[in-house]
This record gives sequence, structure tokens and C-alpha cells, in this order.
Amino acid sequence: MMSVPTRKILVTSALPYANGSIHLGHMVEYIQTDIWVRFQNLRGHQCVYVCADDAHGTPIMLRAQSEGISPEDLVQRIGEEHRQDFADFSIGFDNYYTTHSPENRELAESIYQSLKQNNHMTSRVIKQAYDPVKEMFLPDRYVKGTCPNCGAEDQYGDNCEKCSHTYTPIELINPVSVISGATPIEKESEHFFFKLGDFEDMLKEWTKGGHLQAEVANKLAEWFEVGLAEWDISRDSPYFGFEIPGAPGKYFYVWMDAPMGYFASFKNLCQRRDDLDFDEFLAPDSATEMYHFIGKDIIRFHALFWPAVLSGSGYRTPTAIYAHGFLTINGQKMSKSRGTFINARDYLAHLNPEYLRYYFAAKLTSRIDDLDLNFEDFAQKVNADLVNKVVNIASRCAGFISKRFEGRLAPECADQALYDSFVATGEKIANYYETREYSHAMREIMALADQANQYIDQQEPWALAKQAGKEPQVQAVCSLGLNLFKVLMAYLKPVLPTMAAQVEQFLNIEPLTWQNYPSALLNHKIEKYQPLMTRVEKVKIDAMLNQASTTAAKPTAVDSKQVLKKKGEASIMPTEKEPIAESIQYDDFAKLDLRIVRIVNAEHVEGADKLLKLTLDLGGETRQVFAGIKSAYAPEDLIDKLTVMVANLAPRKMRFGVSEGMVLAAGPGGEHLHLLHPDSGAQPGMRVK
Ligand code: MSP
Ligand code: ZN
Repeated sequence: MMSVPTRKILVTSALPYANGSIHLGHMVEYIQTDIWVRFQNLRGHQCVYVCADDAHGTPIMLRAQSEGISPEDLVQRIGEEHRQDFADFSIGFDNYYTTHSPENRELAESIYQSLKQNNHMTSRVIKQAYDPVKEMFLPDRYVKGTCPNCGAEDQYGDNCEKCSHTYTPIELINPVSVISGATPIEKESEHFFFKLGDFEDMLKEWTKGGHLQAEVANKLAEWFEVGLAEWDISRDSPYFGFEIPGAPGKYFYVWMDAPMGYFASFKNLCQRRDDLDFDEFLAPDSATEMYHFIGKDIIRFHALFWPAVLSGSGYRTPTAIYAHGFLTINGQKMSKSRGTFINARDYLAHLNPEYLRYYFAAKLTSRIDDLDLNFEDFAQKVNADLVNKVVNIASRCAGFISKRFEGRLAPECADQALYDSFVATGEKIANYYETREYSHAMREIMALADQANQYIDQQEPWALAKQAGKEPQVQAVCSLGLNLFKVLMAYLKPVLPTMAAQVEQFLNIEPLTWQNYPSALLNHKIEKYQPLMTRVEKVKIDAMLNQASTTAAKPTAVDSKQVLKKKGEASIMPTEKEPIAESIQYDDFAKLDLRIVRIVNAEHVEGADKLLKLTLDLGGETRQVFAGIKSAYAPEDLIDKLTVMVANLAPRKMRFGVSEGMVLAAGPGGEHLHLLHPDSGAQPGMRVK
């Protein structure tokens, strides 16, 4: 075996926003990164993988408000959900942290101070759209109106999706705040800017240094051409983030402290791990390597701003940025209305996570092309490759060994040349993993699996077993089959860690690595074979798609991806204009039991700052409901009013008691909520249909 010097490597995946669930699009990235990290560790390198939730920003603040909880509580809850999703897909983070941490605050402050001291910061007063009702500045995507150029209605405040014209939110005809419905005004405020232009030479040099994929380097060349504008890194209160030192009421823009979250997560890990030293990895002259895996939509932040911020504040720059494309489903962008917006949890409820890990591996390359998840192809590929090829080798050989030879493998190799050729392919496969050409690696492994199956077909152990005196041959053939299988599982281990662990148990061996895999198992006792993987079933896929369309139909806060889209990134950033809601069948609607109710009592709830406890009369039956309407209604104003409730919603246990249904109100939330009232003549208990 060629010996490789040990490398020290820090790897990150982009930090998912803490206001939504992990979906299969995200999983492309975490699976791609996890495979690479597992591969490096199996090669004997020290490869550390950190990530975190991206906790800050306007969408998270607003979502917390609409749920009537603090942003800290929201971030905590979503963080736990994310951790569980990732764990169930075997994403092996060494640390999964949050950007709303003391480590990150300290880093953000100190990096900002260095940038300031080194004269890379400036400030000036700018005009921005402001919501006079909600009393906050509005990011461009929170303003909608009619395009001043072509008259298209319902356009966002930065550019028109019809005619591509760009403008400021205030230039829209009839602009409205997406949050309150109010007409925004223009208001002045001082903002802080990072002088990106100071780093033009550095960035141009860096771009040539082999740190970027060719497509990404080209993108940068375009940006250089346009010129490097100063980057606005501050936001006004109210904002969920870190306050800027010496500037009360001003906060770091989420994209300023998010990449620092990589370091904060690593720092937090270093406190627990004696073998890791923060400065050794992150000092400017570090001999270690650092890689950021990201999606193509966030290249600007990682390949432009981040290296500049790092070099301006005395840190090392990344060894490389590895960008990947976007996931499409059945050839189209993921879409809530088509039911193809699939959450990780909906997938996990029906299908084995290793199917998806393998399928993505079989499709991933080092380029930033989009990749398609087609469910027919998915089932076909996983069944043909993993079940019918790879697992088949073990299942056809294991029975003979356990029944006829008490689980003992032959003392000699039946075909040394064949075995050696399997082992020798390892370096080629390793090279494919190293360069993120996973699809090539998978193809190579499947070609070997074909060879192993052909060998068994030719030897026909089932026929030999019927002939007198051929016992040693049966044992030899099946033993070689299992040894070939072992080599294949070593190669697949970065992709299929769970199956590899089952195989290690079955073969009764130490964990497979890229060092120990070549040694053949001779005269070795194995355990009884247990089925390793079942076939992908179409009914399970259908059940998952069904569940996904139900999940997607639930209203969510404004999609942060939409909100944070930057000008000029339209070409590489897929967005989709959704219909106002997914259409449903009458039967779906009929499932809702909506009833007229009389509010017989309304009271404050101790310890809850958004909730009122309502006692509702449904015409004989009484229900208790906790409603997040406290900021819009005083309890005494509600008593004796008629309203509408969802009467067949499963009871929900809350911190303050059980809520037995839901009342209906319109509006964005906060003080802008309007309970529905029936026309006169309606009686409690009447069904609404
Ligand atoms: N919070 C930022 C990243 C900050 S990194 C300092 C963010 N979060 S995200 O939740 O929107 O996306 C997280 C990662 O998932 C990004 O790299 C993004 O490109 C990737 N993906 C999100 N949707 C995706 C697909 N549909 N397909 C492939 N990757 C996608 O951006
Ligand atoms: Zn237009």
C-alpha cells in the first residue's frame, strides 16, 4: 500500500437557516460533504467536520414573532430538529453549533474591530424602505408592488421578474410592506460598509490560486469586471443578531457573522478536544487545510466577501471552496404546489437514508451542475446496484459458508489475481473520492461488483455443492466471494456507513479502513448472515410523496432563500413564483370541521406574552383554546363575540395546558390580526362549509 502523509483538515457545510426544516435539496450538500469527510478519515487523515444553525436575520425574527415565541426559543427548537434529521442521515458532524453563541459573538466583534483598525470599514447614511406600522426597515424582498417599468403586479422590491428591471422598493407603484400591508416610507439611517475594493488585488491573486472551481472563478471574473462595491454589513434594530460594538441599535448583518459561525463551531469543539488547536488551524500561516462545501447560490459570500474579511482581519483563507448545483426533482425545481418539496423527515419516515446517500453519490461530480432526483430512476438504480449487485454477492455466498463450514472461510485464496485486481483498484477509487468525482467512484465499484458476480456465476458453487468431493471448492469460491464483497464494502463505506457497520459485524472484523482493507480473511470465522438492505418499494415512495405534499401545504414564514437573494444572482439562483396556494380536492376541504363558536371567556395566561386562553361554546360543548392573539386583542373585547374555529384539530399539549382546536384570524401577526366573525344569525355549533 502506498502510504500517504497525514493531513489536518477542517471541513464545513453551509449553515442552514434556523427558520425552516431540512429538505432533500439541503441533503445534497450534507451528504456530499459527509462522504468526503468520512473518506478522508478512513484514509487516516485528521478531518474535522463542523456546522451550525444560521440563527440570525429578519426572517427568523419574524417567524419567532408569528409563533409568539422568542427567537432564542425558535432557534433552540429548530436546532434540535435539524440535529436529529442530520443524525438520521448519518451526517457525522464533529460539532453542530449555532451562530447565536458566545464564541461567535466574540469572533464577530474581534474581526470587526480588526477590520476597523486596519481601515477597511466606512460608514454613511443611506435611504431605505421603512414600515411605519411595524416600525422597522424592510429588506427589499419584504416590499411588493407594481413594476414601474412594465406594470407587472406583485413584484418584489429589488427587481421585476417579468422585465428584469431593477429599482428600489420605493420606486414600485403602490408599494406595500409584506409584513403589515402598510405603505412603506423612505427613511435615512447610518450603515457600516466593508471596503471590499481594498481587496481587489488580493482576490484576483487568490482566484488564480486553484482555490476555486473553474465555473466559480469565471463568476468572480465577472464581478471584478463590474467592480467591487462596498458591502453593507449593518442592519438597524429591530433585528435578531449581534449588536455592533460602539454602535447601539446597529446589528451585524446575518451574512457577516454566519461564516464566522464556522470558526465559532470549531472553537467550541476545540474546548472539548485536546487534539485540536484553534490557532493551529486558523492562523494565517497554518499548515492545515480548510474547505467550505456550499451551494452555488451562496458563492458571492464565500468566494468574495469571506476571503477578503479573513485576510483583512489576520486569519488564514480557505484552501478551497467546493460549490455544488441545485437539486431538481423529476426534472423540475422543488415545488410545494407539485408536492416535490420533500422534507428530510418525510423521507426518513418511509425510506432508508442510505438509498439517498447512494443515489446522490452516483450522481455527484466536482462541477456545479444541478442534479436530478427522479424517483423511478432512484428505485431502479438503488435496486439494481446495491440490492441486486452488491448485497447479492454476500447473500449468495454466506449460506454455504454457515451451513456447510460452520461459518469458517477457506484457508487459501481461490483466485489471487482476481482478488489483487480488486485491491489495486482502490487507489483509483480513492482519487475519485478525493476529487469529488463520486459518480465515477460508484461506477468503478459497480464494475467490480459485476466482476464478483460473474466469478460466482462461472464457478457455480450451487452445482459444485451437489457433487461428491467438491466441498473444498465450494468453500474456496464462496470465501473469495465474501472477500471481494469485503473490499467493495470498504470502498462504499464513506457512502454507506450503516451498512458497512453491519457488514463488519457479519464478517466479524475490525472497522474497515483504507489501510486494513487489502488483507484477505483466511481461515476466519464469520457470523450468521442477516439481510443487509431491502429493495426500494414504489408504495413507500408514493407514501412519502403523499406525506410531503401534506407537509408542504402547511403555511410557513416567508422563505428566507427568497428574501436573501441578492441582486445580480438571478442567473445562478433558482427561484420560483408559487401560486398563492396548493390546490386541493373538495374531499380535503371536507375534512375540516369548522364551527361557529361563542367566546364565553378570554383571559391572560401567566408567563405567556402572546397567548390568550379562550373558552369557546360550540352549542353545548365547551372547548379551551390557546390563541396567539394577545397583541391584537384585550380579553374583555372578545367575550361574547362569535367567531370560527377548527373543531376537529387534534388537541395539542402546550406549556400552559391543552389546546383543543384553533380560532381563525387573518393578517400577518402581532397587532395586525383580525378574528373572523360570522354574519348575524349564525349560531354556536353551526358547521361552516
Ligand atoms: N444560511 C445560509 C448559509 C450560511 S453559510 C455561512 C444558507 N442557508 S440555507 O439553509 O438556505 O442553505 C444551506 C445550504 O443548502 C446552502 O449551501 C444551499 O445552497 C444548500 N441548498 C439549499 N437548497 C438546495 C437545493 N435545492 N439543492 C442543493 N442545495 C441546496 O444559504
Ligand atoms: Zn417589470
